[in-house]
Amino acid sequence: MQAEITYKSHGRVTNVASVPQLSPFRYPGGKTWLIPEIRLWLGSQRTRPTRLVEPFAGGGSVGLTALFENYVDQITLVELDEEVATVWQTILSPDARDFAEQIVTFELNAESVNSVLLCEPLTPREVAFRSLLKNRVRYGGILARGACTMNKGENGRGLSSRWYPKTLLRRILAIAERQSQIQFIHGDGIDYLRHHAEDEGTVFFVDPPYTVSGRRLYAHASIDHGQLFQAVRPLICDFLMTYDDAAEIRLLAQLHNLDIHLIPMKSTKHQQKLELLVGRDLDWARTRQDSFF
Ligand SMILES: C[S@@+](CC[C@H](N)C(=O)[O-])C[C@H]1O[C@@H](n2cnc3c(N)ncnc32)[C@H](O)[C@@H]1O
Repeated sequence: MQAEITYKSHGRVTNVASVPQLSPFRYPGGKTWLIPEIRLWLGSQRTRPTRLVEPFAGGGSVGLTALFENYVDQITLVELDEEVATVWQTILSPDARDFAEQIVTFELNAESVNSVLLCEPLTPREVAFRSLLKNRVRYGGILARGACTMNKGENGRGLSSRWYPKTLLRRILAIAERQSQIQFIHGDGIDYLRHHAEDEGTVFFVDPPYTVSGRRLYAHASIDHGQLFQAVRPLICDFLMTYDDAAEIRLLAQLHNLDIHLIPMKSTKHQQKLELLVGRDLDWARTRQDSFF
């Protein structure tokens, strides 16, 4: 359970532990905490969309929720990072069960972790296993170069503090069971948007790397935000973008005549952080918001 982040909305604090976790990743910049707003957004669509696309999928938490909670029938996840992509491809392949079994039978200790992380994996499943292990034993789940492995672990429980083999098995098999409803593309999210502007019955949840902190979190963190705004503009269906509250993004939203809305997010360190939602019409978000802002 990811209990470290709480989300304050309408003057209430929602513990994200109450949101079902479906992704095998603990993703830096993951949007599980935003799920209450995502449900509102999906529920506000005039006609039920059949498909949700996440062009910057990461752990895919929004897409998986939309699918498992029956807001849509199909999801498309697009991700550029090869390690992350290989995990998704493995879960959606006939190898999924073996992958899940490998996780539950792995004896986790400093030596076994080091030997996996230092070996050059040969097969896609080995790459997937190493990537998911890295994601679960490194501080903040960061896969990018330079991230450290946990010593004391989060909550002082050592390396295993975020390694829940049975939970991972359950999540992997649940996703694998819905394999026919999930399309994964290892590619560029902006390119995907450019080629799918006319797709009907679709909604796009667009969660690119943050303008500043993204550089530390992801191997692929530098994207041209101006080009991304140009790619979402012609979409014939609805989209929702999320960003850090940066002047550059506010300006781009204004230039493209898009609506913005700030929502508060709180970490355990009680630092108040603000997330900027960008879309064509965010009235659905305002109905929930208190007079906090
Ligand atoms: C903020 S994270 C997405 C987190 C995700 N919403 C979640 O809840 O787990 C942004 C993701 O975009 C990926 N990315 C960066 N540039 C990309 C690109 N051009 N195309 C597709 N994915 C990209 C990064 O590797 C990272 O996984």
